[in-house]
Amino acid sequence: MVTMCGITACVGREQTADDLLTGLQNLEYRGYDSAGVALQNGDGVTVCKREGEVSSLCEALSTTQAGGDIGIGHTRWSTHGPPSDANAHPHTDCTGQVAVVHNGIIENHGDLRSELTARGHKLTSETDTEVVPHLLAEYLAETDSTIAAFRKTLRRLDGSYALAVVVEGEDAVYAARAGSPLVLGIGEDSHFLSSDVPAFLEFTDRVIYLEDSDVAVVRDDGYEITDLAGDSVDRSETTVDWVPEDARKGEHDHFMHKEIHEQPTALRQAVRGRVDPDAGDVSLDEFGVDSFAGVEDVQFVACGTSYHAALYGAQLLTDRGIRATAHLASEFVVNPPPATEGTLVVGVTQSGETADTLAALRDAASRDVRTLAVTNVVSSTAARECDDALFIRAGPEIGVAATKTFSSQVVTLACLGTLLSESITDRKGRAEEDNLYTALHALPDAVDTILGQTATPNVARRFRESESHFFIGRHTAHAVALEGALKLKEISYEHAEGFPAGELKHGPLALVTERTPVFAIATGRNDEKLRSNVEEVRARSAPVIAVASPESPVADVADEVLAIPETHPDLAGILANVQLQLYSYHVAALLDRPIDKPRNLAKSVTVE
Ligand code: M6R
Repeated sequence: MVTMCGITACVGREQTADDLLTGLQNLEYRGYDSAGVALQNGDGVTVCKREGEVSSLCEALSTTQAGGDIGIGHTRWSTHGPPSDANAHPHTDCTGQVAVVHNGIIENHGDLRSELTARGHKLTSETDTEVVPHLLAEYLAETDSTIAAFRKTLRRLDGSYALAVVVEGEDAVYAARAGSPLVLGIGEDSHFLSSDVPAFLEFTDRVIYLEDSDVAVVRDDGYEITDLAGDSVDRSETTVDWVPEDARKGEHDHFMHKEIHEQPTALRQAVRGRVDPDAGDVSLDEFGVDSFAGVEDVQFVACGTSYHAALYGAQLLTDRGIRATAHLASEFVVNPPPATEGTLVVGVTQSGETADTLAALRDAASRDVRTLAVTNVVSSTAARECDDALFIRAGPEIGVAATKTFSSQVVTLACLGTLLSESITDRKGRAEEDNLYTALHALPDAVDTILGQTATPNVARRFRESESHFFIGRHTAHAVALEGALKLKEISYEHAEGFPAGELKHGPLALVTERTPVFAIATGRNDEKLRSNVEEVRARSAPVIAVASPESPVADVADEVLAIPETHPDLAGILANVQLQLYSYHVAALLDRPIDKPRNLAKSVTVE
């Protein structure tokens, strides 16, 4: 069984259980199949864990007297094997003196399990993690030094892990990382560990991002970081510029709703200091004028929504005369396209932790191909491992459905495209002539207009019971069609597909009936051709919803219009996508779906 989860720990707090639960609630985007905590006090280690969301754990904890000022917590997303109380973390050894939470995969758990069972250990779950407390308990029996026993345990593990461990009678949390994220939070007289900053953002903004092979011992009054050999390592402390409100829903019913409404701010941040409409210039702090000298072709790798942003970005680059292609990261790994010295592989990934995308980037790096991460998370694995990183500056995104980060990714790729085109094609000015820079600055206001006037609640009421939904578009709107369909499937569980508009007549048209609304996404480019495709579906009695400027010829032939303000055609897809995000949101709300935690999904997919 492999898991992809959120772990947290705190030392030195008075309300340890409450603080752990706060952390777990803020980490639920990483998984919500089961949750648990272990608390350590003078009487020993107490574990409480439950199948289901953190709310089930809260209920269970409210009826126990569990206390202690040292604790660890876990929220889990399982990839195979059922979520259950037994498989929930923390896991303990035979005597319950050691409790462990883990994010990652212990690949040699089968061998270790056989070895431990042969020596009389009783393992009670199906998880890979459970071997860790049993091994540690054995090594503790052989030595007086907990850290030595912990290191010895770590040396037996193959695979990836972020681990946090409590041991009976110890005043510390022991932690280590190899291939899974782990952050140390530094408070006044207290310290925290977590897979991600939002878990402890309420308590501190001072952090240290641990690196692979780091082993940490964390107490209320300090911490030590060493490597696997026990040598001290120096990791610098940084202050995150997120605020506790970033991890709260505030006035919104769902994080997705909040994050859709944060898009104007996110877009302003994405272009701040990068786009100067007066000078007709784009500059990125991360890169100089010659940074891309020698680049001849760009291969994007990404998954899910980020893949759709990459597809959109590849189109923008192609328009600027750059050879650019977008690849699903999971396919890139099994079928890598040929690369030359002039190839740049760009990983587009909100989290910077998606295993498929990291695997594609590593594959490129292993062939000596230059890599660039376009990501939201400064400390992410992608940002650290790639030759260069470019940040989309969207702020934390908690809802499992990616929303604001799509918009920020596309805008950032538009800026990158302009820079690349100046460097590769030696051509300056196309974007300037097209007023792209001015439009980029006006984009947040255009999104605000949509948020204030959207007709999506009514359109959602009209079409929520449909047999299927189709989304069609050409050029950049093809990427938006795919994204519109993904968003609807993901949070409403309704069937939806996106197509390049011209392809409909080559097969999918057979599915079109009066019970299948077709969303036609018009960007101002190719609108006449799109209108012809719309006529084809109208002739089959399908209701048509134009996602278009009211001036577009597509709007003239539609049953409903989700209006987008006039903008540069390169950016119209971003506005159309905001309307589609809102449509999906309202359908899902009408169908009473768990919008922020859709079934079977988690935000960061850290397994291949
Ligand atoms: O963190 P990443 O951008 O690499 O994540 C990629 C996908 O897993 C992600 O976009 C996923 O498709 C979202 N749930 C879509 O809303």
